[in-house]
Amino acid sequence: MTTIPVPKRVSDGAQNELHSMDAYRERWLSAQADPSGFWLRETLKSITWMTPPNQGLEGGFRTVQQTGFTWFADGELNVTESCLDRHARERPEKTAILWEGDHPSEVEHISYKSLLLRVCQAANTLISLGVQKGDRVIIYMGMVPQAAVAMLACARIGAIHSVVFGGFSAEALRDRIRDCGAEVVITQDMGLRATRQIPLKAVVDQALMGESGVHHVLVVKRTGEAVQMDPERDHWWHEAVHDQPTHCPATPCAAEDPLFILYTSGSTGRPKGLLHTCGGYLTYAAYTHRNVFDLRDDDVFACMADIGWITGHSYIVYGPLANGATTLMFESTPMCPDPSRYWDMVERHRITILYTAPTAIRTLAAQGDHFVHAHDTSSLRVLGSVGEPINPEAWLWYRDVVGQGRCTIVDTWWQTETGGICISPIAPATPTKAGSATLPMPGILAKLVDQDGHEILGPGQGYLCLSQPWPGQARTVWGDHDRYVATYFSTYPGLYFTGDGCRRDAEGYHWITGRVDDVLNVSGHRMGTAEFESAILTHDAVAECAVVGFPHAIKGQGVYAFVVPQAGATVDAGLAAELTTALRSHIGAHARVDHFQATAGLPKTRSGKVMRRILRKIVCGEADGIGDTSTLADPSIVDALLKGCQT
Ligand code: WTA
Repeated sequence: MTTIPVPKRVSDGAQNELHSMDAYRERWLSAQADPSGFWLRETLKSITWMTPPNQGLEGGFRTVQQTGFTWFADGELNVTESCLDRHARERPEKTAILWEGDHPSEVEHISYKSLLLRVCQAANTLISLGVQKGDRVIIYMGMVPQAAVAMLACARIGAIHSVVFGGFSAEALRDRIRDCGAEVVITQDMGLRATRQIPLKAVVDQALMGESGVHHVLVVKRTGEAVQMDPERDHWWHEAVHDQPTHCPATPCAAEDPLFILYTSGSTGRPKGLLHTCGGYLTYAAYTHRNVFDLRDDDVFACMADIGWITGHSYIVYGPLANGATTLMFESTPMCPDPSRYWDMVERHRITILYTAPTAIRTLAAQGDHFVHAHDTSSLRVLGSVGEPINPEAWLWYRDVVGQGRCTIVDTWWQTETGGICISPIAPATPTKAGSATLPMPGILAKLVDQDGHEILGPGQGYLCLSQPWPGQARTVWGDHDRYVATYFSTYPGLYFTGDGCRRDAEGYHWITGRVDDVLNVSGHRMGTAEFESAILTHDAVAECAVVGFPHAIKGQGVYAFVVPQAGATVDAGLAAELTTALRSHIGAHARVDHFQATAGLPKTRSGKVMRRILRKIVCGEADGIGDTSTLADPSIVDALLKGCQT
C-alpha cells in the first residue's frame, strides 16, 4: 500500500499546533511521558477556567473500580464560557451556527453574540421550570438550532443533558428518561427530514404515558402542525423563552462534574448511559477538532452527523464552538432533494471542512460523479470520515472526485466512550493510506492484544485497547459503575478495551477491522444484536432467534435474523412485516432487519449456547471457515442454514 503525501499548504491563519510529522512525534512522546503536564498545558491554553486546575491526571485504569480517574479535578469552569462568552466578546458578529433546514432555502446565520443571548434565555427558562445543577434534561429533537441552544443552556446552569436521537421510538425514549431520572424533556412539534414529518411531540406524549417523573415538556414549534399540549406540563419554547432575561450567569462547575449522558449500545443488555464530564471532555473535543482538521479562523466546518450521536456532540457543538469556529447544522439528508445536496451546500456556504460517514460517501459515489462536478467545490480543504471502516474505493472516490486530489482525507476512529477522535491522520502532517485511520493522537496509547491479552508488538492483528487515560474519556456508566468497569476494563486488566479489531502494518499504521463483539454498525448507527433479539422475541410467533451482521456494500453492515417459529407458525412476508413493526416500536425506525431466515433450530453447543460465530460465517459467505461442528448438539443444522441463506 503506497503512502500518500500531504497536499501542500495553501493559506494560513491556522490554529493547529501539529504542522509536521516531527511536531506530531514530539507532542506524542511528550504526552506519553507526562500526560498530566501535557494536558494541563493544553487545557490552560485553550479553555477558559474560573479556577485554573493544578492537578492533571489522578488515578488510572488500575484504580478504575475503586476511585476511577480524574482530570483537572481541582479546577472550576463552565463550558459555555469557552464556547460562547469569550467569542461573543472577541468576535461577536462571527457566525457560530450556520443552520440549513430541510429545504435549501431555509438558512440561518447565528452569530456568537446572538447564540449567547439565546442560550441565556433558554437557561433562564430552565431555571424558571425548577431545573437545578445536576438535574437531568432529555433533548429529543431534530437538527434545529434550538437543539444546540438547549444543550448549551443545560451546560450554562450545570444541568446534565441527555440527547436522544430523534429516530428512537417511544419505548426507547421512555427507557432513557427513566434510566437517567429526567424531570424535563425538550422536543419539537414535528421533526422534518427529507420532506417527511416526524411526530416528535406525539412520541414524547406516548413515552410519558403513565410516567410521573417528568414535570415539564418544552416544545419548539418547527412546522406549526397541530399537536396536543397538556396545559399543566407542556410549554411552547418560543413563549417560554420570550420574556426571559438575556443574561444568565454561568454556573461554576467542578472539572469532573457531569456535562452530559449519552446512551449507546453494547454487546449485551440495555443501552448504557455513558457519562462525560465538563473539563476533560471539552479540552479533548477542542484539541482534536483544532488539530485533526487543521482549523483556520475563516473555516466553515460542516459535520453532517446528528446531534443525537457523539459525533454531533463533539464536532457540531462543543469542539467547534470552543474553538470559535463556524459550525454547520444540517437538518436534511444528502439525497434531498437530489444527490447533489452536499455539493450544493459546499458551493453556497463555501464549506472548507466536510466531515461525514462512509455510508454517505458510498451512497453518493454510487449516484455518479456528475453530481459533484456540477458544483464549485473548490473551497474544500479537508475531508473527514467517521463512524465505520471506510473501504479504499470509497476513500479514493472521496479524495479524487470530491476533493479533486487537493484535499487531505482524515479517517477518524473513535467512539462514544472516547469523547473525541483517538486514531486519525493530522490533516497537515500525516501521510495517509487509503482505508487506514493511521496513527494515534498525542495522549493516546494504542495497543493490540491477542485473545489471551498478550500484547502484539510490531505488525499484526488483534483487539484494539488503549492503555493510558485521556481527558475526553467517559468516566462511568450512569448509575452503574460496575457495568462500566466490567464492560471496558475487565477483559484485559489495566487496559481500556474498545470492542474493535485492528491490524497494524509495518509502519505502525492502524486499520480498524470492525467490532469484535455483538455490536452492529449499520450506516454508522451503533446497535446491539441483543436489542434486536429481544424486540423480535416479543412476537408470539417466535420461539427463538439470533441476529448477526453481514457485509453490505453501502451500509457497511446489514442485519440478518435467524428465526425459529413457534409450532404452527411460519416465517413469511406477513410475519416479517410484523417483526419490522416490533423493531420499530421497541427501538426505532433505524433498526431494520434486511433478511429474516426461518430455521428449525439454531446451532447450539450441547450446553445450549448459540454459536454466533457459525452464524456470522454463514451470512458472510465463509462456509469454509466454519470449521469443526462436531461440538454442536445437532451438526445437521449448519447445512440447512447454509442452504437457506439469502446473502
Ligand atoms: C466504529 C462514533 C472504523 C468502531 C464516533 C467504533 C470506526 C464504533 C471508525 C463507535 C473509523 C468509528 N473506522 N470504525 N474511522 N469510527 N468506528 O460510539 O467500531 O457511535 O467502536 O462512535 O464505530 O461508534 P460510536
